[in-house]
Amino acid sequence: MTTTLTAWSIKHYGAPEVLNPVTRPIPEPGPNQILIRIHASAVTRADGMMRAGQPLFARPFLGLRRPRQNLSGTGLSGEVIAAGHNVSRFAVGDAVFGEAGLKFGANASHICLDETGVLMKKPATLSHEDAAVMCDGPLTSYHFLHEIAQIQPGQRILILGGSGSLGTAAVQIATAAGANVSATCSTRNVRFVSELGAERVIDYTKEDFTALPDRYNVIYDTLGVSSFARAKARLTDDGRYICPVLTLPLLGAMLRSRMTGGRRAMFTAAGLQPPEILRAHLTQLLAMMEAGTLSPVLDRVYPFADLVEAHRHMETGHKRGNVVIV
Ligand SMILES: NC(=O)c1ccc[n+]([C@@H]2O[C@H](COP(=O)([O-])OP(=O)(O)OC[C@H]3O[C@@H](n4cnc5c(N)ncnc54)[C@H](OP(=O)(O)O)[C@@H]3O)[C@@H](O)[C@H]2O)c1
Repeated sequence: MTTTLTAWSIKHYGAPEVLNPVTRPIPEPGPNQILIRIHASAVTRADGMMRAGQPLFARPFLGLRRPRQNLSGTGLSGEVIAAGHNVSRFAVGDAVFGEAGLKFGANASHICLDETGVLMKKPATLSHEDAAVMCDGPLTSYHFLHEIAQIQPGQRILILGGSGSLGTAAVQIATAAGANVSATCSTRNVRFVSELGAERVIDYTKEDFTALPDRYNVIYDTLGVSSFARAKARLTDDGRYICPVLTLPLLGAMLRSRMTGGRRAMFTAAGLQPPEILRAHLTQLLAMMEAGTLSPVLDRVYPFADLVEAHRHMETGHKRGNVVIV
């Protein structure tokens, strides 16, 4: 049996080329840990931000001069090959998926994780590639739409960036919740986003949503391409502008709108929620997949050795859905 694992390290913040393959001894799982042989892992915008050390105000958490955890990747899917003696949720041979969270190191051949983390058994009907991206777009958008905005059937929801990882999941999740969904995307993605379930698709290269008369209960700016100030007039009187991309203007808008009431600007870091909440969301997402109302969108699948290339593609800002390495 092999005794070393291969992972991708980030010694310094920088461009995709700072990623380097490294080998390390495979750790023994602790009493509450499982050792996973990874089949597929996600390459996300958040991974790119960790690698680049951006935004700068995140560095106190990531590491001031260099990454505190110097391995890349969070979302993964694989198979349990060893388990600590206290482990009760999983057994050797189980297919599992989830995320390494702030431990990082999911872009690797193996990883040891606590069984109490954001880990789930993988249904046989879900491929490792699809499972590896469940904790990016699907889990984040589920959290934003259901927990933060608390969307209701019949509400009007506008999703800015309907073709990205968060956006493709958001269109499907909001549609399944019975909302009336509009979404923005570029010309090449209009048909694709409408097939995901959007009733109205606004081509952002031709129309500006702020110039249209419609008003929405929720505007979900998945990319931070607008702002609360611009979106406000297009919200209903108690509407919510929710955005997963934290900036100083968004922070200011959140504080001000909380004091004034009415229309609100909101942000959260979905991945920092307690694991039991995230596991409950993943259970709901798996039920949606079973019911045929959610299907993760894969843009490109790269071999493990091509992580640098995968990061370059992810960083174009033009991926459609998700990127994985296998
Ligand atoms: N707060 C949290 O918990 C959390 C969690 C995960 C991710 N995030 C953040 O969420 C953000 C979105 O990530 P993502 O992976 O969904 O992005 P992404 O997949 O990289 O977004 C790319 C997509 O956006 C479209 N796009 C580009 N400019 C646009 C515009 N002006 N209007 C509408 N669509 C546009 C592109 O389509 P075209 O090429 O056709 O234009 C492409 O399909 C990232 O900043 C990430 O860090 C936050």
